[in-house]
Amino acid sequence: MAELFAAVAAERTGIASEPPVDIDERTAIFVAGMAGAAGTFVAVAGDQIVGLIRVKPSHHGFGDLAMLVHRDWRGRGAGSALVGAAIDWARGQGLHKLSLEVFAHNQAAIALYRKSGFAEEGAAPDSTGGPAANSGTRSSWACRCDAGALTRAP
Ligand SMILES: CC(C)(COP(=O)(O)OP(=O)(O)OC[C@H]1O[C@@H](n2cnc3c(N)ncnc32)[C@H](O)[C@@H]1OP(=O)(O)O)[C@@H](O)C(=O)NCCC(=O)NCCS
Repeated sequence: MAELFAAVAAERTGIASEPPVDIDERTAIFVAGMAGAAGTFVAVAGDQIVGLIRVKPSHHGFGDLAMLVHRDWRGRGAGSALVGAAIDWARGQGLHKLSLEVFAHNQAAIALYRKSGFAEEGAAPDSTGGPAANSGTRSSWACRCDAGALTRAP
């Protein structure tokens, strides 16, 4: 998972983490997350983790969502499957809303979130001018996951 995260961070476009990623440190973050209340799901091809999604519940019944898919495996449905798994998990946990921030230039992610039932809520704090991986206008998106409230496209 940490190696996948590092590979996607090195692209400097989709996620707001500046490379190089410290693999040991990132592994510890994932391990701590899995020991706590967060929900983590992975997409696997053979013996390789090619995608992951993580929902971190807040004290207010929200869940913060973060995800990525390896460049070589995009456009094949892994992202959609991961979002579906995260929404189902969030519902099972009684969370009523999932939220995330996405770069305005990240059209693939925006299309995925939109088709999964997310709607734009507004602009996120401006990070333009930060380190390369952090630069760009971002927007906040969310979907409701209360029983019956979610409209997820088939
Ligand atoms: C965003 C991301 C997770 C999508 O994962 P994926 O496995 O490619 O997603 P899917 O194959 O399930 O595609 C889901 C939808 O995204 C849209 N999509 C996928 N690739 C696209 C592209 N290149 N351009 C525009 N839309 C695209 C389509 O609407 C697609 O739905 P469809 O297949 O029904 O038409 C992946 O591109 C990624 O990891 N990017 C880098 C990291 C990142 O940006 N993470 C999100 C940070 S907010």
